[in-house]
Amino acid sequence: MTGGPTPTLRPVRSSDLDFVPGLLTEPGVRRYLMDDKVASREDIAGLMPRWIAGLAWIIEMPQPVGLVSVGPVHPALVELAPALTDEWEITIALSERAWGRGVADIACRQALAQAFASSRRPSILGIVDAPNRRSHALMTRLGFKPEGHMAGIVHELQLYRVARPIGPS
Ligand SMILES: CC(C)(COP(=O)(O)OP(=O)(O)OC[C@H]1O[C@@H](n2cnc3c(N)ncnc32)[C@H](O)[C@@H]1OP(=O)(O)O)[C@@H](O)C(=O)NCCC(=O)NCCS
Repeated sequence: MTGGPTPTLRPVRSSDLDFVPGLLTEPGVRRYLMDDKVASREDIAGLMPRWIAGLAWIIEMPQPVGLVSVGPVHPALVELAPALTDEWEITIALSERAWGRGVADIACRQALAQAFASSRRPSILGIVDAPNRRSHALMTRLGFKPEGHMAGIVHELQLYRVARPIGPS
């Protein structure tokens, strides 16, 4: 990472409803992640319980700059591709003001380490809109391997997969 404070993760809590709606409606964040839709505060409030109960973290530097989560593939994508039913995916949203500094790289490594440590998942997917250049670069740097394409709701999607790291036996 280039200069500045190091990002840390802490679990999502209900008071993050002060931060997450602003994050997910930033133009650069919503463009691919939300199919460019401006989600309402109520829509985002509806997503919070799943993040609070699951593996989802606010990225802090020390002020909140993003959200990273690991969990079951989004139901809308499972509907398009039932083979993804039992798969987990990583999803990250980083405020545009923190892009280009390796912050997402560090946050995703921490999230993947915690997800593999607290589950028995053999692997985790990354699902990236074809034109989302920054996300493809991030997946590649994190060691995800490309695993074919599928039709998305707006764009074609590239699937990536990373395997559980080999640990002590
Ligand atoms: C996808 C997203 C998280 C990527 O953010 P990012 O800042 O580009 O990603 P990284 O943290 O890996 O940073 C990479 C950049 O930092 C630079 N960098 C500096 N130090 C670095 C380090 N130690 N490690 C990695 N990259 C570093 C890289 O050279 C690269 O620079 P570039 O922007 O000039 O190419 C961000 O664009 C985003 O939130 N997008 C909107 C939401 C979205 O689409 N999410 C993806 C769906 S899962």
